[in-house]
Amino acid sequence: MIERLALASLLLLAFCDRPSDRGPEYSGGDTTVFTTTREAYSSPASNLATETLPDFTFGHRLFTTSWVTAPASLTSFDGLGPIFNRVSCSGCHLKDGRGQPPEHYGDSMDSMLVRVSIPGQAENGGPMPHPFYGDQINDRAILGAVAEGRVLVRYTEKPGKFPDGTKYSLRVPTYEFKDMVKGSKGLLFSPRVAPAVFGNGLLEAISEETILALSRDQAKAGVVRGVPNYVFDAVTRKKAVGRFGWKANVSNLAHQSAGAAAGDTGITNSLFPKENMGPEQQQNFPDGGKPELSDAFLAKLVFYTRTLAVPARRVTPESLAGEKLFASSGCAACHVPTIVTSKSAVAEVSNQIIHPYTDLLLHDMGEGLADNRPDFQANGRQWRTAPLWGIGLLKNVNRHEFLLHDGRARGLQEAILWHDGEAAFSRNNYMNLKREERELLLQFLRSL
Ligand code: HEC
Ligand code: HEC
Repeated sequence: MIERLALASLLLLAFCDRPSDRGPEYSGGDTTVFTTTREAYSSPASNLATETLPDFTFGHRLFTTSWVTAPASLTSFDGLGPIFNRVSCSGCHLKDGRGQPPEHYGDSMDSMLVRVSIPGQAENGGPMPHPFYGDQINDRAILGAVAEGRVLVRYTEKPGKFPDGTKYSLRVPTYEFKDMVKGSKGLLFSPRVAPAVFGNGLLEAISEETILALSRDQAKAGVVRGVPNYVFDAVTRKKAVGRFGWKANVSNLAHQSAGAAAGDTGITNSLFPKENMGPEQQQNFPDGGKPELSDAFLAKLVFYTRTLAVPARRVTPESLAGEKLFASSGCAACHVPTIVTSKSAVAEVSNQIIHPYTDLLLHDMGEGLADNRPDFQANGRQWRTAPLWGIGLLKNVNRHEFLLHDGRARGLQEAILWHDGEAAFSRNNYMNLKREERELLLQFLRSL
């Protein structure tokens, strides 16, 4: 498997205009930045052309801007809501990093959201939006409008034991809908924390062919069987291979950013001209222009998400030993260490040898992680292999270590122990390692 991938990369190398492999530290190829501070996820690509730096900086401003209710004196930043989740992108993607679930039962979701739908498929092949809520619960509203409701989370502990006798405990979430304007009967739902947004330009530059080849290789090797998600692309209005979101439910960053603006903050734009609510909920509120986010601003926001750098890996002898165990335990079958990007709209992320530790494919992760809500081709048990680059710096940036799509795991080891379904063999391999070996494998993850 690994050999085959290495061979594939070599062949690619022979045919492209030779990207340079600068070694394992360079997680994001030439975009890589060497920093471990709280700003580790927030730097521009280190190879960014100087003349585009102002675009990046303006994009950063848009990403961190708190949108306000229309009409406002600063008309380019108004149009919030009428219903929304947060007033800014960075409200959820704090420091370009990831969100977390509420700390206590009853607390509101401040950096995660709940996608909803009803059984059936929409015209574009996606989940069927609820006639009132649309496709996510907006738990906040501007003055005079009514929030759709809230979702509360509660945890119960589920103890377990390693074969060597070491004990552990996992927390199992259950969700409760509260103050729902139209109830919650028959709702399919999927709670998701905001993932980190750095390195996304590189993932966007991984060609569909590369993703499909990874899926074919896995089918041949027969250890895991990742499949691509095919989704609706709002830019081309065609079917495309998905890359972003916890179920690879979006194919590119223009769609992702524009969709987030409309869905999460209530800021309409040319790709998503309607507020996120079903036809039954449409009301007349003053808007911040039609659309509220101009194409010029949207382009800057997208440029920003395309050019955020990946922080470098901190290679140590222990982490290299741990990486061997990561491979021998089967983790690398899904968390693919090395991929070569193709030509993309942004030169800085094109033709790069990167170490994202993902295949961007969907895998059945078992009943425990299932949300039982289909998302385009993804079924209720399938999730996209989460990229692991930068994960060792999460604590530095976001001051927490909550992992997995709904933030239920309290650290790296719990995230591994939740792996089931197609990944069960690999979790068992991890559990059967000696205690010191498990620690080395975790050291590897912390070095990313
Ligand atoms: C309410 C919290 C919230 C807000 C506000 C928010 N996001 Fe997100 N973001 C998410 C969640 C949750 C996901 C994962 C979505 C999914 O799986 O469907 C996500 C995914 C993304 C991704 C893809 C990351 C990946 O690894 O797949 C990008 C890029 C992104 N958001 C950009 C933005 C931009 C730009 C804005 C502001 C216009 C924004 N987000 C506002 C919660 C939020
Ligand atoms: C069959 C494919 C597969 C295998 C094998 C696999 N993983 Fe994963 N991994 C995933 C998927 C899919 C997710 C996202 C699951 C979710 O969020 O519910 C994930 C998530 C993670 C996360 C959390 C990432 C985050 O951003 O929250 C870590 C850490 C991780 N895996 C490490 C490992 C390690 C270590 C191994 C080997 C012991 C391993 N994985 C084996 C598919 C796999």
